[in-house]
Amino acid sequence: MNDYYDLRLKEYRLSRLKELGGFTFEHVDIEDRQTLSEVFERYPICYVVNLAARAGVRASIVDPYVYLSTNTLGSLNLLDLMNRHGVKKYVMASTSSLYAGVPMPFLETADVRKPLSPYASSKLGAETMAYSYHHLHGLEVSVLRYFTVYGPAGRPDMSPFRFTEWVNRGEAICLYGDGEQTRDFTYIDDIALGTIAATEKCAGYEIYNIGGGNQPISINTMIGEIEKHTRKKAQIDYQPQNNADMQDTSANIDKAIKKLQWSPKVHPLDGLERTVNWHLENQGWLADVRL
Ligand SMILES: NC(=O)c1ccc[n+]([C@@H]2O[C@H](COP(=O)([O-])OP(=O)(O)OC[C@H]3O[C@@H](n4cnc5c(N)ncnc54)[C@H](O)[C@@H]3O)[C@@H](O)[C@H]2O)c1
Repeated sequence: MNDYYDLRLKEYRLSRLKELGGFTFEHVDIEDRQTLSEVFERYPICYVVNLAARAGVRASIVDPYVYLSTNTLGSLNLLDLMNRHGVKKYVMASTSSLYAGVPMPFLETADVRKPLSPYASSKLGAETMAYSYHHLHGLEVSVLRYFTVYGPAGRPDMSPFRFTEWVNRGEAICLYGDGEQTRDFTYIDDIALGTIAATEKCAGYEIYNIGGGNQPISINTMIGEIEKHTRKKAQIDYQPQNNADMQDTSANIDKAIKKLQWSPKVHPLDGLERTVNWHLENQGWLADVRL
């Protein structure tokens, strides 16, 4: 619940989870080892699914320290407490950003030792630390390399949210590069199902690509879809491409298909329609969210 972006989005999602029932929220910073350890004492824990992170690629250039302390050190706190409390199964969110410079479609076995941003570096640190705990203490680990997640109530620093809002508000889209860069967009429901499958099948130390899988679309295509569903014309303010950004991403998901029996069900064009519709339905309170 930090204020990296508008808290109303986090409260919105949290209220949806609470409505489902069977869910308890503990407001804890994973960097705060003491309070985290009290959570481990309070509950019988079967799995840890660690999605907590500083997640912006560009923001990580501005403040790399918080990326290391949350993404790497915070993950270590979880691993260490798991080990002390005999919790064996760990699922962690990692990122397609690790595949910079690797031939596409990206395979989990690729050499990812040249991350382009402190964000990607911090996630590589978290992945390798999890491997050490697997090797030394027998923790079972599923590392999930998510590919450009989007959907209703998404992150306002990511293009599907910002671009939809800019078009909706009649403001110019701030576009880095020419828009021909492509992303293997993955709809939030598919990410959730992939995460559940990897939790249920968590064994050994395995890395999985959880991505669209050979159906990347360009940013310009995404803008066209937003125009279509909002029925508004986008104005574009072109800015130079950031050198921490990748040109293209594309996931090889054969391993997830084979071992997790998971593959994405929502095509990006359908997912974008659902996402834009959510924006239109919620435009009242979204109107002043900082982009
Ligand atoms: N969205 C994507 O496209 C994408 C792609 C690849 C990987 N991921 C990873 O998926 C996970 C979820 O990302 P998201 O896009 O939902 O981002 P998000 O920022 O919405 O979610 C991360 C959450 O972690 C919380 N958090 C940050 N620091 C914390 C700390 N010290 N202690 C406890 N909680 C803390 C934040 O408040 C936030 O609610 C992250 O690990 C991210 O790196 C996301």
